[in-house]
Amino acid sequence: MVDSEALWREALYGPSGFFTRGEVPADHFRTAPLVGPELAEALLVLLDRVDFALGRPARLDFVDVGAGGGELAGAVRSSATGSLAARLVVTAVDVGPARSVPGVRWRSTLPGSVRGLLVGHEWLDAVPCPLVTGPLSHPWLDRWWPVGEGERAEIGEPRDAAWADAVSRVARGAALAVDYGHVRADRVAGRYVAGTFAAYRGGRRVEPVFDGTCDLTAHVALDACAEAAGGEWVLVSQRDALAALGLVGKVDMAGPAGGSAGSGTASESGPTDRPGSPGGSGSSGRPASAGLAGGSGKPGSTSGSGTAARFGAASGAGIAGEVGAASRPGSAGGSGGAGRTGPGAGAGLAWLAAAERASRIAELRAEGGLGSFGWLLHGVGVPVSSLVPPLPPWRP
Ligand SMILES: C[S@@+](CC[C@H](N)C(=O)[O-])C[C@H]1O[C@@H](n2cnc3c(N)ncnc32)[C@H](O)[C@@H]1O
Repeated sequence: MVDSEALWREALYGPSGFFTRGEVPADHFRTAPLVGPELAEALLVLLDRVDFALGRPARLDFVDVGAGGGELAGAVRSSATGSLAARLVVTAVDVGPARSVPGVRWRSTLPGSVRGLLVGHEWLDAVPCPLVTGPLSHPWLDRWWPVGEGERAEIGEPRDAAWADAVSRVARGAALAVDYGHVRADRVAGRYVAGTFAAYRGGRRVEPVFDGTCDLTAHVALDACAEAAGGEWVLVSQRDALAALGLVGKVDMAGPAGGSAGSGTASESGPTDRPGSPGGSGSSGRPASAGLAGGSGKPGSTSGSGTAARFGAASGAGIAGEVGAASRPGSAGGSGGAGRTGPGAGAGLAWLAAAERASRIAELRAEGGLGSFGWLLHGVGVPVSSLVPPLPPWRP
């Protein structure tokens, strides 16, 4: 019998495997950290809540497992401000080659003990697992994904084990898995009878081959991962989670003179010693890199170059549903225009930047796209209710 898990593992992580030799998502598919700094900003709000629950310790960890090109770790590092930034230790973990990201420690194995927030962003979908065709009786399938005659499925046990191991590394704080996936009710209902195994190369979905030339992936049974890791957890949609962290992406249509157009993170308010103000700096608390261009400039960033998200809706700038209104850059007339730059220049640019930011946030929250990703959040010695308010259960 073909050992599909071993073939998958060799293709991605063997000596000349896809990730071993250093391929990065930015060249093949679009993930949320490539959209811009906004995901990192939301995670800093979450990290600030963890920090508060831990009593603002002298050292606070942010660990990015399956860090890929290091974009998320780098954005968290560069967006942190104030006291949190001074205490923050950012670690990227990846089995691929170490990247040079300012202020980020790089390692190939998970740290033994984490105090803070551990994140696995689109990590678990890249953990190989057995591909099967029914009928088949197997403890994991019987519990999580019964398969009938001719139906295909993936046995999620290796993902469960990987996630349980990662969560066990958190001494105190929280662990968050963000991924596309499915829940038992939909698996049992037959929504995934063809399985979800897929391959991506150069921004396109391609026929899966186990020769190391493409990324191989499958949706994650996040409910099974949750149960395997145990403890207190919630499983919610990215769309809801981002809103709960203050990322809603509205543009202030008062226009350039109106001030804080399009900001939309909860981090902009909050006293120094309370969650919601990364760094507790007492200043605006606004993460440093929030603003103009966003994104790394690589394929798949906000240019909408066509690099595919590996799930659901197409990528792209241009999802600007929450921008609305007909105002144009610079259209606020002379109101409040200051001196030589005037509303047509700096203020117009500010409006444009705000609109671009709102567009990126809309992409992160898009139903059927990145917004339908699952957020599996475990609290370890920290009540989950102190991190996010009650939210509807995830049903992608
Ligand atoms: C789909 S990519 C996601 C990259 C990045 N988090 C993002 O969202 O853009 C998955 C990454 O997980 C890494 N990976 C897989 N298994 C790993 C493990 N056991 N430990 C560390 N990294 C791992 C791969 O090398 C790859 O870079």
